[in-house]
This record gives sequence, structure tokens and C-alpha cells, in this order.
Amino acid sequence: MKLDIGNSLKILTKDCVFAQSKKAKECNEMLETGGGKGRDFLGWLSPSSITKIDMNDIKATAYNFCINCEVVVVIGIGGSYLGSKAVISALSNSFGYTINKRPTIVYAGYNINEDYLYELLEYLKNKVFGIVSISKSGATIEPALSFRFLKKYLESIDGKENAKKRIVVITDKVDGPLRMLANQEGYKTYAIPNNIGGRFSVLTPAGLLPIAIAGIDIDQLINGAVDMEKETSSNIPFEKNLSELYAVVRNELYKIGKKIEILVNFHPKLYYVSEWWKQLYAESEGKEFKGIFTAAVNFTTDLHSMGQWIQESERTIFETVISIANSKHKLEVPLDEQNFDELNFLSGKRVDYINKMAELGTQIAHVDGGVPNIRIEISELNEYCLGQLLYFFERACGISGYLLGVNPFNQPGVEAYKKNMFNLLKKSGC
Ligand code: PA5
Repeated sequence: MKLDIGNSLKILTKDCVFAQSKKAKECNEMLETGGGKGRDFLGWLSPSSITKIDMNDIKATAYNFCINCEVVVVIGIGGSYLGSKAVISALSNSFGYTINKRPTIVYAGYNINEDYLYELLEYLKNKVFGIVSISKSGATIEPALSFRFLKKYLESIDGKENAKKRIVVITDKVDGPLRMLANQEGYKTYAIPNNIGGRFSVLTPAGLLPIAIAGIDIDQLINGAVDMEKETSSNIPFEKNLSELYAVVRNELYKIGKKIEILVNFHPKLYYVSEWWKQLYAESEGKEFKGIFTAAVNFTTDLHSMGQWIQESERTIFETVISIANSKHKLEVPLDEQNFDELNFLSGKRVDYINKMAELGTQIAHVDGGVPNIRIEISELNEYCLGQLLYFFERACGISGYLLGVNPFNQPGVEAYKKNMFNLLKKSGC
């Protein structure tokens, strides 16, 4: 993985970035030593801590779903679904052909929408399906509500005993209503470690089981993360430490009024990686009346909509571009004798090359237009590189939150809406 901050150094000086190196190192060390805020939520720091036994167990459960189900419904919200959704979307065929005839994965419990739930139940009619219900607290209304419907539906068609064989619960090891329900019903369960919060849980069973069901190599995903852990540890010098550099540059840009970070991709399969990233940084940093607002665009698609705003609106933004060096497939533009579309100047060129020129052209235009740019390059869209990328962002998020002076591992602000909603719904005790 490469990180290029050159196009931010046109607005920030190299000196001001390097002046923060000591502070960034201290923040990174605080993650390693548990000396900072939220010290009880640092379990994600060592992705290698997931044991071989756990990995094999996850693979065996995934295999079980594969041989028994056409569809698997993954229930979860926020950190309990975005990680797996990001990886599965990034590594699956764009048109939904499942890898090696794996079950189709659909999601539920990330909204409270009657039509969505109704249509999901309709879709599941006459399909053999299983359920992976994920909630760390086990008390979140969106997934709990969906699980109630889906569990009842599965039991109604299969009977309680058979349904059990196709339900897996991923939740806290001991506490919470979902844990109690799972114990009571005798479901197969996995625990989300106590010391890992939802948005950092992609490399725990919460992310790994759905990803394995989709036929994606979870060993390689973990390998990428483990290698990135080494590359971003505090003993790596600042100028080579990708997470420290990224954390510093985005905080320095924030200090000079760049309040919005736009994550840019040029590959539609990265859409949910951006959604995952948006949550990771917004929920980790947006507190105490500070924090960068995280947004995302998908280029070239959004160049025809948001591109105008980015080029000419308020200069309060910067872009972080994820670029994939090599596409998986090869397609050259064919020659057309009639050339009505006037595209023969492209004949023989790869589509990926044209996309890369769009990427470069956009970068030049936006940087010239006063939008600082950070560029992250991964060599290809595969398990290993994605594992690296996810870990890089997590590590940088911890450092960045500490640089900002907040606790990156809590989310007190999400309680307010719940309190009001439960009051309005007249939940007893509220
Ligand atoms: O990052 C977080 O902690 C949150 O986004 C949670 O993942 C989200 O609120 C879902 O919580 P739970 O897994 O407890 O249902």
C-alpha cells in the first residue's frame, strides 16, 4: 500500500506536518500501551489474536450455511454489518453471481422499514435460508426487530428444532438480551470480544462469518491486517508510518478549515468500503463539538453530480482517494470502422487506463481548484490488500482521534435519538 500526501503539501507545509510527528507517535504509543481514552476498547489492535481454532470454527460454520442455504440473511446495524458488507461488496461479482455457488447474502436490521422487511419476507418465500444475527449489545432495536420477524418466519416453515440449525448469533460473550435468547434457544454463537467496539469489529466473527459464507478467503484478509499492524506500529519512523502520516495530514487540514473529508473511489465495488469508513471516522471523532465531517463519492459516476460542488464550492473540503493500481480483468476498446461515437482514439486502450486518466485528470483539476488531496494506492482488490486497507484506516482512526483530543472508542451521541424514540413508543422504564 502506498500513501501520497504530496498534493496536500501544496497547502500544508512539510514542516507543519513533521512538527506533529512526535505527537502522532505518542498517540500511536497510547494505542499500544493503553495509555489513552477508551483503553478498554483496543482489542482490534492485534488482528493476529484471533486463533486458528476460531478461524476454523468460523469456516466450518460458513460451510454449513453453504451446503444448507440458498440465502443467508445477515442481521446487524452500524459496525455489526458495514464491515462484512464492505468486504463482500468489494470482492464479489458486480452482478451478484456468488463465488463458487455460495449462498446469496442479504442484509436486514439496518433500518426500521416496514416495506423493506415485508419485501424481504416475500423474497425469502420458497427459499431455503439461514440467519446470522449480529448485535454486540444485543439490545439494538433495528436488528432485534428484524430478528424477531425472521426467526418466527423460519420457525413457521421449518419448525423450531430445524430452524435452530440455520441460526447463528454473534453477540457479547455473557451479557445482553440476544445472548440470553441464544442461550435459551441453544443457538450456535460467537462472541464479539469485550474490548472491540462495533465499528472496529470487521476482523472478529461479526465480520468474518458473513465474509466466509460469501466464499472470501478470511485468512488472507487477516494476513493483510497483520502485516499492516507491523507497518503502522509506533516503532516505524513517522515518514514511513502510513497511519501516523494520514492521521496527521487530515488533522492539520482540519485545523486550517478543511472540515469535510471526501473519500473518493474510482471503482464501484468500493462503495461500501466508503460507507464503512464514513462510520468509522464519524462515530469515532465527531464529538465534543469537533471532528471532520466524513463524506464519500464514487467517481466517475459522481463527477457528473457532486463534481461541480467539489470543483467550485466552498473550499472547506479535502479529498482522500483510494486508487487500485491493477484491475482484475482486461478489456480493450475495440476499433469501430464507422466511428460515429468518435471513440477510435481510444481503440486498443484498456478501460482501466481510461479510468486512470480520469482519476489523474480529476486530481489535477481538484488540486488546482484548491482541494488538497491524499492518495492511497492498493495494488489490487483482493483479500490481502483489503485487510491492509481496513487495518490502516482503523489504526489511523485511533491515532487521529487522540490527536483531536477525543475518545475515539465511544459514541455517547447516538443515545439521544434512542431515548426520544423509546419515550415516544412508551417503552417501560424510559
Ligand atoms: O460502532 C459501534 O459501536 C456502533 O455503530 C454499533 O456497531 C451499532 O450501534 C450496533 O450496535 P450493536 O452491535 O450493539 O447492535
